[in-house]
Amino acid sequence: MDKFIIEGGRPLYGEVEIQSAKNAVLPLLAASILTDERVIIHKCPRIRDVLNMIQILGELGCKTTFYEDTLVIDSADAANHEIPSELAKELRSSIFMLGSVVARFGKAKIAYPGGCDIGIRPVDLHLKGLKSLNVKISEEGGYINCSCDRLTGADILLDCPSVGATENIILAAVRGRGTTLIRNAAKEPEIRDLQNFLNRMGAKVAGGGTSTVRIEGVEKLGGVEYTPMSDRIEAGTFLIGAAMCGGEIGLNNACADNIAAVIHKLREISCKISVKNDKIYIKSGGTRKSLRMIETMPYPGFPTDLQAPVTALACISEGSTVVVENLFETRFKHVPELIRMGADITVRGRAAFVRGVPSLRGADVVAGDLRGGAALTLAAASAEGLSTVTDLYHIDRGYSGFEYKLSSLGVRIRRVHI
Ligand code: EPZ
Repeated sequence: MDKFIIEGGRPLYGEVEIQSAKNAVLPLLAASILTDERVIIHKCPRIRDVLNMIQILGELGCKTTFYEDTLVIDSADAANHEIPSELAKELRSSIFMLGSVVARFGKAKIAYPGGCDIGIRPVDLHLKGLKSLNVKISEEGGYINCSCDRLTGADILLDCPSVGATENIILAAVRGRGTTLIRNAAKEPEIRDLQNFLNRMGAKVAGGGTSTVRIEGVEKLGGVEYTPMSDRIEAGTFLIGAAMCGGEIGLNNACADNIAAVIHKLREISCKISVKNDKIYIKSGGTRKSLRMIETMPYPGFPTDLQAPVTALACISEGSTVVVENLFETRFKHVPELIRMGADITVRGRAAFVRGVPSLRGADVVAGDLRGGAALTLAAASAEGLSTVTDLYHIDRGYSGFEYKLSSLGVRIRRVHI
């Protein structure tokens, strides 16, 4: 077990490089088994979720090699269609493997996925979509069994714009016979990145990033060399960190368009934000007007993955803020820990009512999930006094070198092994 020891209260200055997007790389890894030719992914972050997905590919018979931050995947000898439960339970994105494995082998067996404990996280839309593509599905003993003689195109309407279900259906449909339409598809930028990756492999996908995705099935997919999009959630995390601590930082390899909702909110509370190509600069004097209302929405609305960090920001903003979490049922695990740091928050159902305090005070807090852990780390960096953050394995799932980047910006933070 590791913990952060953080001495808070210092402004942030400097620049950081934003990593490739965790939620783009994971579906690309699932897509890599759709071909028996070589797949090369540059700037691949060595975060726990990626390493777990690589382990899953290894179980299926893929050979994977890292050359610095370039990952080479060879699926020519892949032959196993079963994903062991201890691996599947490690992360949510194991569920994406259903579509790609059944497309490659005509069958797949996987335990129910894991991932952050932020809600029920059903997979009904994944399974309903795959059934529409002629996949036969049975569920027993905590396993999902898929089999399919021939994937066939279908006209699918998602009850809700699920990111994972959209990606899973695309991953199966690219090898299906005929045309597949996904209506009410998720519009997150990571879907467009998956489309670009697949089309480089010879797929015919259009509409990624819009509410209707069209896939023309093809017989074969070839190898690909690709650099994924940058991580909009990591970028938003650092922007919010600067708003909380004050100072002036620059983000390199960042795409402002993908976090327009976050930038808009931070400008509303007097942060000075400028954008130049793939750089975002933020200057914050430390005064923070009330955020008033934050409602998480599917893209392009305010991202649920930045709800915890922005709730931490609301704790030290003037006046009151209402934070409504519309996507997940229990995504407020960070609230009791923020209260331990002196925050004034009341939660009723999916709404958190935050009354701003001048500053938080250092405390010993525990990360409950990936983005909540990041939020607590930012809170500790802004707080007066000493804090510790434990259960860092949550943070290590999605942030590469989080403490090194914060330290390079002036935060007094170190990781100790306990
Ligand atoms: C993806 O999760 C991301 N994970 C999540 O990021 C992100 O919070 C989420 O999309 C929303 O943007 C990855 O990409 C690996 P959903 P996913 O399916 O696909 C309901 C992070 O911190 N739903 O879009 O699991 C579901 O209950 C993680 O990086 C169904 O009802 O999210 C939720 O209310 C956390 N049935 C809503 O859809 C289904 O079959 C959105 O979930 C699937 C989902």
